[in-house]
This record gives sequence, structure tokens and C-alpha cells, in this order.
Amino acid sequence: MPQSADGLDEALSQPVTYGAEPFVSEAYARAEGDKLWPKVWQHACRVEEIAEVGDYVTYDIMDDTILIVRSGPEEIRAFYNVCAHRGRRLVDGCGHVTHFHCRYHAWQYDLTGENIRVLDKEDWGGRLQSERLRLQPVRVDTWGGWVWVNMDPDCVPLRQYLEPLAGMLDPFEMDKMRYRWRQWCYFDCNWKVAIEAFIEAYHVEGTHPQLLKYAEFYTWSEADGLHSHKGFEERNRSLQTQESKTYFRAGRGDDPRVSIARMQEEIYRTVNATTTETIVNAAARLAEELPQGTPAGEVTRHWLESARRDDAARGVIWPSISPAHLAKCGNSCHIFPNLSIGIGLTFALCYRARPHGPDPNRCIFEAYVLERFPSGQEPKTEWVYAEPTDVEKWRSVLVQDFANMSEVQRGMRSRGFQGALPNPKQERTVSNFQRNLAKYMGVAGVSPL
Ligand code: FES
Ligand SMILES: [Fe+2]
Repeated sequence: MPQSADGLDEALSQPVTYGAEPFVSEAYARAEGDKLWPKVWQHACRVEEIAEVGDYVTYDIMDDTILIVRSGPEEIRAFYNVCAHRGRRLVDGCGHVTHFHCRYHAWQYDLTGENIRVLDKEDWGGRLQSERLRLQPVRVDTWGGWVWVNMDPDCVPLRQYLEPLAGMLDPFEMDKMRYRWRQWCYFDCNWKVAIEAFIEAYHVEGTHPQLLKYAEFYTWSEADGLHSHKGFEERNRSLQTQESKTYFRAGRGDDPRVSIARMQEEIYRTVNATTTETIVNAAARLAEELPQGTPAGEVTRHWLESARRDDAARGVIWPSISPAHLAKCGNSCHIFPNLSIGIGLTFALCYRARPHGPDPNRCIFEAYVLERFPSGQEPKTEWVYAEPTDVEKWRSVLVQDFANMSEVQRGMRSRGFQGALPNPKQERTVSNFQRNLAKYMGVAGVSPL
């Protein structure tokens, strides 16, 4: 696909459309189980979840079940989570073991996947080969503090798969971030409906109108091969020039000291993400620390400098990232197929959506916040199930997003839906996703409008 000098994908900057089949067809969902999921690198867990030798996590996707284990201080392995005897799923959830023990007929495996016990092995008369008995390996690697797996033995290396986004995000040192909270739920929609809701900000006016009083949410978006990213831009400048891209916005209102503080307070209270306590507190002090009439750029600089100082005092050193690089990265990216990362200097808001079996109308959705903490002060977290309508647990902004899920799914199933009309400027993240998905699936996906 031709890319222009500024990284724009020319094909996707033209209006395109795509149909509903990938979202509503059970045959398509099953075909994803053959053509998509076994061929892509997927993040299975965070490295922190398997910190000690013997810690394991299971990752299930469609019909496949994968077991990720720390098999040595510097070694992580992944296997199909399937007993070699008669195929029982070996373990469930996560935990800590010295070896794996099948609860059906008590066969056992060590942390490297070798079989170490077959009950009454002599009954096979010496015909059991160790290669046939071991847990079958899955490709595994780490980047950004995540453990990634790929079921395709001939896959490209993880780093190559993630580029150019890995290089773009490396300066954020996401491997130094830890979970602050993590929650999950089911949605009555296709997994793609769910992830697409979190890779564009074009929906802010319709879904989160209360946020418009603080700032503009006009976005640029760019395709990056398989992946994509997007950020905010000042609407009145010409689209897609570096100068028009912004990361920190002073916000609406006459007094940037006040608008920044109010927006930070509201975001922290109603999203519980995309900022930190340090940054919120530094914003709250702006009106005391700066005289009225301080220009917006200066207010922003002062705010960030004081937050950076406060964090340094408690042992959280901000990564050094130039304002230009920050603006280029934007505020979120999509890693194909099902990870969305909201980008921050000391935090990230991440989303993952997975199919729930072959049902195209249901998915498993997970959201979590990562943050940099002083060493030794990382919170202990677990996955918490939270109903999608639970405002206490999800806070109000995500519940607003969640209310779209089943309604989009229902609308797309109607014979009245003529195909999607993604915004050619702000939703290239979505159209690029559909285009790449179609390539994996070997079908025509996105066509010119
Ligand atoms: S299925 Fe695991 S020991 Fe029989
Ligand atoms: Fe949203």
C-alpha cells in the first residue's frame, strides 16, 4: 500500500466502506479461528504475572488453550495447555506450581514441558517416546512488559511483527509499568466491535458529550502496516502536519490553569485512567502557583515540570521523551489484532477483546491501567469481573462506551445496514484494521466508497 512521505496511507485517506459479515457471521468467526488467531502474535499476559519460577497463566483463544510459565529466572515458555494422554485441558486460570499434574490420570510435566510421570508406564511396553509425551511448544517472546505468544511455528519474530510501533513506543519503557487495576466482562457484540470502540476518538462527541466542555477531541489517525495510531490535533491547522499534532492540550476556557485542573480532576474521577494522582495534584496547584493570564503553553510546561519533579521525589523517574516525539506518537495505538494502548508518560490504558467461542455476537473484554510506581510500591492486583453496567467499578466514561457495544452489534445484523462509513481522517485505525483482517482471511474487505 503506498505510503506518502508523512506516513499517510493514501488508500485509506480516501473514503472506504466494508460490510457487516466479519462482525455477524458465524462462519467468519470460525474462519478467524483457522486463519487469524493461529497466525498472529497475541499478548497473553504481563511479565509481572509470572514473576517467580513456577508461576503460570493460561490464555484461551477460540478452541486453543495456551499455558505460559516462568520455567527459569530468565526463561519463559509457552505450551498448548493440553495433556498428552487423552487431551484434558491441563490447568486453568493462573497459579504457581513446581510441576504440572493432570487431574484426570495423574500424568505429570516439568516446567520445561517434559513428561515426568506416566502412571503404569510399563503397560506401553517401552513404546512411549518422550517427544510424543511432552507438552507441545508455542512460540513466546516479550516486549513492553507483555508476554506474547504465536501458534505459527514459522511466524516472523515478535519485534518485526510489532514494528514500527515497537520502536515508536520503546521510549515509554512500558516494561517498567505495572498494573494499577484490571477488570473484565462479557459484551454481546463481536470482539472487533469492542476493540474498534477503543482505537478512535471520533466517538467522543456522541458518546462522552460531557468531556467537550474541557477540550476538543478532533483526531488524526495513521496506518502503520498491520497496526495504527492516532492522536489529537488542533482543528484549525492544516491536517496531518507535525505542527498541528498535540499531546497535551490546554483545554477550553479563558483560564488554562483552571481548565487543565478541572479536566484532570474529572478524567481521574470518571475514567480512573489516562492520568495519575501526581499529574492531577500538580494540575490542582496551578491556580496557586501561577498568576492569572499565564499563557496556555507556559501553564502546560509548568504543570508537567512540577508533576515530573513530584514523581522524581517519590522515585518515579519519567522517561525522557521529546515533545515532538510525544506529539508524533499521539495518544493511542492499535496493535493488530486486538490490543489497544492508550499512551502516557507514566501510565497506559489498555484494552483487549477476544471472541467468546465461535459466537460472533459475544466477546470477552478486558481493560487495565498500567502505571510506573516507586520500586517496591507496586500494588497487588487481580483480574476483577465487573458487569458492563457497573458504574462503581468501571466509572462513568467506560460505561458510556460499553452502552454502544450490543447496540452496534444489533444494528449491523439488521438488513438495513449497508456497510460501514469510517471517517477517512479520524478512523483510519478502524479501516486499516478491517483491511488487514481481510488479508489474513483471504477475502475482499475494504473497498473504495
Ligand atoms: S488426560 Fe491427562 S492424564 Fe489422562
Ligand atoms: Fe470512549
